[in-house]
Amino acid sequence: MSEKKTYYISTPIYYPSAKLHIGHAYCTVAADAEARFRRLDGYDVMFLTGTDEHGQKIERTAIAAGKTPKEYVDVIVEGIHELWAQLNISHDRFIRTTDDYHKKSIQVIFKQLYDRGDIYKENYEGWYCTPCESFWTDHQLVDGNCPDCGRPVELTKEESYFFRLSKYQKRLEEHYEKHPTFISPPSRLNEMLNNFIRPGLEDLCVSRTSFKWGIPVPFDEKHVVYVWVDALSNYITALGYGSDDDSDFKKYWPVQVHLVGKEIVRFHTIIWPAILMALDLPLPEMVFGHGWLLLEGGKMSKSKGNVVDPALLAERYGTDAFRYFLLREVAFGSDGIFSNEALISRINADLANDLGNLVSRTLTMGENYFGGNIGRVPISDDFGRQLKEAAEAAQTGYRPAMEKLQFQDALAGVFKLVSRANKYIDETMPWKLAKSKDEADRTRLQEILYNLCEAIRIAGILLQPAIPEAAAKMLSFLGLPDEDRAWESAFTFGETKGFATRKGEILFPRIDLEKELVELEAFKAKREAAEKGPQETGVVTLPEITIEDFAKIQLRVAKVVNCSAVEKSDKLLRLELDLDGESRTIATSVREWYKPEDLIDRNIILVSNLKKATFRGVESHGMLLACENGKNDVKIIFADDCRPGAPVN
Ligand code: ME8
Ligand code: MG
Repeated sequence: MSEKKTYYISTPIYYPSAKLHIGHAYCTVAADAEARFRRLDGYDVMFLTGTDEHGQKIERTAIAAGKTPKEYVDVIVEGIHELWAQLNISHDRFIRTTDDYHKKSIQVIFKQLYDRGDIYKENYEGWYCTPCESFWTDHQLVDGNCPDCGRPVELTKEESYFFRLSKYQKRLEEHYEKHPTFISPPSRLNEMLNNFIRPGLEDLCVSRTSFKWGIPVPFDEKHVVYVWVDALSNYITALGYGSDDDSDFKKYWPVQVHLVGKEIVRFHTIIWPAILMALDLPLPEMVFGHGWLLLEGGKMSKSKGNVVDPALLAERYGTDAFRYFLLREVAFGSDGIFSNEALISRINADLANDLGNLVSRTLTMGENYFGGNIGRVPISDDFGRQLKEAAEAAQTGYRPAMEKLQFQDALAGVFKLVSRANKYIDETMPWKLAKSKDEADRTRLQEILYNLCEAIRIAGILLQPAIPEAAAKMLSFLGLPDEDRAWESAFTFGETKGFATRKGEILFPRIDLEKELVELEAFKAKREAAEKGPQETGVVTLPEITIEDFAKIQLRVAKVVNCSAVEKSDKLLRLELDLDGESRTIATSVREWYKPEDLIDRNIILVSNLKKATFRGVESHGMLLACENGKNDVKIIFADDCRPGAPVN
């Protein structure tokens, strides 16, 4: 027996510093669809995901929550397992960088790099962005802030180990040139060359001494390994590299594709291949940088409070409907905008209407006209031939699209077939034929239903990677024996012996968009309140600050001279303020509790030296003080008998 070809695919390992959001689900569902496709296509698949648990950011978040880092991440990782189960993610392995085997292998890798002379010790002085866990040089900073996320950086002075990244500059460039799809899609290649490689690579600081939450450097235990070296190496430690049993490493490495978001392409296409070169290991075949799912107002962020919860959407609309949306809505590689409206409209149009109608009309007719027994009748007209062609086009377009991770194209092809089949029903009008007792009309009617069942069968087989549960139901409604459900059988139209259909349940119920948009908000609010638990105990105790820290915050009384609702937002009010002659505007999300006329002519307390920001197109310069009075109950702190502009201490 010949060995199966292997296919290794990975997602990033996610930081368990907060609940995962729709962006993480996006990447993981894409990887899952690809892994399922490859399994069906006969590969021995290794699909890896996991969590990236070390580093200063996690340590700080844990301390702020009053827990040890391990206690803190354990709870979140539990939730991540639940989320992946809910989304039907079929990963073969889940790595945690706090797993013992990983820690041991990282120490082996670090020692190997040191022994080969690719790691050396020196004093380091530079800038560190803790949220990004990234080092920056003076000239890389933008306005003194992190060039990636725009947040403040910290000056770091430490004795550190360095990795000779600069040494690999030329070999990296040569590799990109020889392997044009190594960095995919191609647009990301220029970004790497222009922004990072051509300005010149500097050696990389790969150890830290200022905190403890990491893997100790094996020969110098006051250092911990830089979190990105720890994290990137997961792709080989998960396969047993550096352990007693590296058989999986031998079997699956090099990886076919690392799926990553666009902002971490540079770690995967510069630092990671350089480490692999230093270890004398083959490089990944491809690093694919997908785009971001954005909201209308920009990026999702915890601080904006606009993070979209994938568990909630999958619960409300079904796992398959949610998966379908993620794969179908945006070209994989580009940025896309998420909105509840787009999600619901997509479910209605494609799944409830097109696919749902095709399946339910066909099965109802099959049952009514033939008691579900539909035998094979050869195609006799052009409508039938066109339907067969549409099926063949869906089949032939599917594989190349999936091989390029173009889920949108693969699915669009299948849904063209679905539309063509619905049109076929309208063209052939089987309900008219059903009125006739004539033998030829009965045969013709059976031909139509057979062709429709074939279309559903092929669509069902091709939809398995994207919507596994619904696809399995479609195939079971057709009563197919296993061989007619097999992947290869999707590539023939008209050879199935016959069908024994049954009327199944509705696959995707239609959603009333207007009504749902309102009800969803209520559902979300209820869910968030339940997650927070009783408000009284929900107060997080923050670490102490000094009087100097507090003195940085300037509070002033401000008079609300005008107030209006912010368009396209159900939360925001726009306030025009007067601070004793100085005017400014703020946007604040209190619309649930206050109407504009409640606030006009009243005095509030403003954090007046807060940096400007823009929310839904409204410039917001400052923040008002309000009290979280109880579950979903907010009260603004008014200062009506105080003078506008006066300082508050
Ligand atoms: O970066 N749309 O972890 P992370 C699409 N631990 N993708 C998004 C997104 C959005 N709005 N927001 C985030 C890390 N992502 C490291 C990775 S790998 C060795 C270490 C994606 O928890 C993002 O692009 O911050 C990235 O691929 C992943 O989520 C990062 O998650
Ligand atoms: Mg990130």
